[in-house]
Amino acid sequence: MKIKELSYSSSANLGPGYDILSLSHRAFKDEVEIEENNTGKIRIFSDNTPEDPMKNTAGLSLIQLMKDRKIKSGIDITINKGVPVGLGLGSSGASSSAAVKAFNKMFDLNLTNDEMVYYSMYGEIAACGSAHPDNVSSGIYGGMTLITSTEPVRVRKIDIKYKPHLMLVIPDIKIEEKTKLARSMVPKNIDIKDMVRQTSRLSLMLLGFLNGERQAIRDGMNDEIVEKSRNGLFPFYGEIKSMAIDENAVSACISGAGPTILIFTDERTNKNGIISGTDEILGKYGLNYKIVETEIVEGY
Ligand code: HSE
Repeated sequence: MKIKELSYSSSANLGPGYDILSLSHRAFKDEVEIEENNTGKIRIFSDNTPEDPMKNTAGLSLIQLMKDRKIKSGIDITINKGVPVGLGLGSSGASSSAAVKAFNKMFDLNLTNDEMVYYSMYGEIAACGSAHPDNVSSGIYGGMTLITSTEPVRVRKIDIKYKPHLMLVIPDIKIEEKTKLARSMVPKNIDIKDMVRQTSRLSLMLLGFLNGERQAIRDGMNDEIVEKSRNGLFPFYGEIKSMAIDENAVSACISGAGPTILIFTDERTNKNGIISGTDEILGKYGLNYKIVETEIVEGY
């Protein structure tokens, strides 16, 4: 029996929500098919992800899951990778969450969503050395998710009233081990004043999404801790964000660990202005890029 599942791309953080917020979008998707084999081994079939299961996000998640559930079968994992790697679009989490969903179905494990997030998170260790659950929560729940605890893993799906359209500005930059590097740039300690400002903005942004208040989303979606610490990796971000707001975008943020920029738009936004403004700004930096217009994935 073969079981296939998919997970979409996602944008983690959403400004002030470092490691606790994520949004699932239809821009790209990974499809993962699993099938039992009689070799007793996990084998990966994929054009563009590592074939060693210990280095593969989907492989590592299933290894942990099989160990905990004492399942000894051989498994073939075929990954059809649509989410581009290394661009802050939740690529590693998409493969691991799709694999865990497929495995759960194949072996009738009846895992809860949070248990599936827990196992999918192991894949992030293969990708960047740290098991953060934000992107993988998108692959399991869809929509906008909030991590309320990591030990044990607990996730709440946020029932947002304001559903903007999305524009992803995807610069053609590849940085070796980018997520690992970007995570190492985040400060280990912050001043209490910065903490107060950050929690205030995060709360305001969530109120904006929950109550449908456009201005609250714009005022809240600002981060001077994590995005600022990573600015050297994406020096064009500030210019793109202020240009997008001048064109009446709702707001913008770095998608996950970047370099993609996520712009929230609605009917009041001048999207053509954003397209030409982006061309001008990234042209100045000598960067090729892609703009993908997409929508939020409500759920699976
Ligand atoms: N929250 C993570 C980060 C997402 O910003 O490092 C990257 O996978």
